[in-house]
Order: sequence, then structure tokens, then C-alpha cells
Amino acid sequence: MQIPALARAARAASNWVDFEKSWILETLSKVAPQARGRLLDVGCGDKPYEFLFRPYVDEYVGVENVATFELTHAASRAAGPDLTYDGNRLPFEDKTFDTVISIQVLEHTPRPAELIAEMARVLTDDGLLILSVPFSYRLHEEPHDYYRYTPHAMRELCGRFGLSVQEVLARGGLFTVMGHQINTFLAYHVANLEGVAQSMGRLGHEGAANGVARLWTLPLVVPAMAWVGLGARVLDRVLHDPTDTLGFLVTARRN
Ligand SMILES: C[S@@+](CC[C@H](N)C(=O)[O-])C[C@H]1O[C@@H](n2cnc3c(N)ncnc32)[C@H](O)[C@@H]1O
Repeated sequence: MQIPALARAARAASNWVDFEKSWILETLSKVAPQARGRLLDVGCGDKPYEFLFRPYVDEYVGVENVATFELTHAASRAAGPDLTYDGNRLPFEDKTFDTVISIQVLEHTPRPAELIAEMARVLTDDGLLILSVPFSYRLHEEPHDYYRYTPHAMRELCGRFGLSVQEVLARGGLFTVMGHQINTFLAYHVANLEGVAQSMGRLGHEGAANGVARLWTLPLVVPAMAWVGLGARVLDRVLHDPTDTLGFLVTARRN
């Protein structure tokens, strides 16, 4: 097997045991075909989801907050923003994008309502906003980790700026949350794999990882993560509890 094929297989396996990543990919894949025209990715990081939207849009522009982006781990970054700005006023004219997406960003700004107002401002009439937000998720990117969101908060925030929510997709249920917590603990606290994950292009928005991977734990940790991955998926189907979830994907249209 060639190295790129091995790397692809390793990435697919790590996506599968990482519930957050696999659910973000699944929910974004569902809504990506609704994207069109000029697309703006607000807080794009290293644009990990560009490939899902590219087939449907004419242009893909990524913008980042210079202050928070510069704190992040540049070494693993394969791609980056087209523009940076001060995190206040998006550097674009009113109504210039048909689609605006913002993936796992609203928890990282101390003023989320202002950022939604800015996204609404740059959307064309009838433009589509796609937001992915956390509900139950560990602290990350500290100290820039401020909020978690419910669907009701998202409806209220969007409605305030002339956006009506069309669809809300949850990222799994209670067992997904539990499975994600256990697998995160095994990967990062038991096997200390943060550096390995960063070398694979993951956790790119976290600070550089310290410490050496505890490779001797892998014969236990890898099968345990796979069983947790399987068990949580089965339990989430047969005993679904929607009152907990990793987060939500929300689509909204400008009225
Ligand atoms: C968890 S990362 C997500 C990055 C990328 N969207 C992804 O899904 O991989 C959060 C990102 O939000 C950015 N960010 C924080 N406040 C922002 C703001 N006001 N405007 C734009 N981006 C912002 C940070 O710089 C960081 O790259």
C-alpha cells in the first residue's frame, strides 16, 4: 500500500473514532448542496471543509480574526484564510455573498451576536447562512472559549438580524456525547496523541502540543476507542436521547 493511501486510511479511521469530526462532516455534507454563488467562510481556520462546498459554489473566500488566528498552531496548517481582519467588521461590502458559513466559531467570540449581525450584513437577499455550533463539548482554544448554544438561542440570535432558521441538525445524542468524551480522554490523556493528531492536520486551531505519545498504550487504547465508537453509535440508535448532543448545525435564510 502506498504512503498516501495509508495516510488516507489513518485519517478515515481517526475521523470515525472522533465523533465530533465525523458528525460535522455528516451534517455539512447534508446541507452543502444548498450552497451557491460566492461563499464566505468566517473563521475558516485551515479550511478543512472547503472540499464539501467547492462543487456547488463559484468562489470560496476564507476570512479569519487576526488576533485569535495568530495564536493557533501554524505548523500543521495546510491552507489558511484569504484575508484576516480585526474580528469586528467583516472586510466586505453589504450583500456581497450568496452563502456564508461559520463552523465552530461562535463559541470563540466574546460578542457572538455582533458576528452574526456582520454575517447577515454581507449576505445577499435570500442568501443562505450555515452555522455549526457546540452544545456539549470540552473546553478548547482557551482562553478564547466563551459559549455553548441551544437551538432556541440560535433561533433568537438569527431572528434578531432578519434571518429565519430553516433547519437544525443535531450532532448525535447522549451516547455520542459519552463516546466522544471517553475517546477524547483515551486519545489525549491516556495515549497523549495530541502531537500525533496535529501532525495529521487535526487540532490545527489548538496551541502546539507538548509531550511524547505513549505508544505503549496503543494496543489497549486503539481497540478500546474502536469499541466505544461502535457501541456509542449502536446505543445512540436504539436508545436515542436527543436532550444531549455534541452540537447543532443550523441553516438560516435572510428574510
Ligand atoms: C475551533 S476554530 C474553527 C476553525 C475552522 N472553522 C474549523 O472548523 O476547523 C475557531 C476559529 O474561529 C476564529 N475566530 C474567532 N473569533 C472570530 C471572529 N470574530 N471572526 C472570525 N473568526 C474568528 C479563530 O481564529 C479560530 O480559527
